[in-house]
Amino acid sequence: MRVTLHVDGAELAAEIDRPGESLLSTLRDRLGLTGSKNACEQGECGSCTVLLDGAPVCACLVATAQCEGREVKTVVGAVPRPVRDAFVQCGAVQCGFCTPGLLVSVADLLERDPDPGDAAIREALAGNLCRCTGYEKIIDAVHTAAATLAGERP
Ligand code: FES
Ligand code: FES
Repeated sequence: MRVTLHVDGAELAAEIDRPGESLLSTLRDRLGLTGSKNACEQGECGSCTVLLDGAPVCACLVATAQCEGREVKTVVGAVPRPVRDAFVQCGAVQCGFCTPGLLVSVADLLERDPDPGDAAIREALAGNLCRCTGYEKIIDAVHTAAATLAGERP
């Protein structure tokens, strides 16, 4: 079965041989797009978070067969530069395994709420598990990114 996806602005076709193949497997194993990480494959950790038609999803829980013609944004295409820079600047990246999924979730949050408080940040990132940072540095990074983005607006 051939499925056409719009990934980070490019139209890509993938041949899948299992109806239940996940979007995460297709991105990583068939298309070589390894930005989205695979940690649990059970929808528990958020490391595979992508935007599907603008909404955050765990790519490991979405069947590629349901994605014909749809828009997928990974960490490569979904995340403004100030968000990435803030994670580095604030020490919110340690082993980095959770980072791509967190960046996508933060980009989605800041799109909906340009100046979120701590509670809103914690709620938005509740599905993204990090074993290294203790989350405080991630929250600092979100505030830093929000301030930078606000300063860039006309
Ligand atoms: S790999 Fe998808 S939620 Fe963990
Ligand atoms: S930085 Fe290691 S899991 Fe988050």
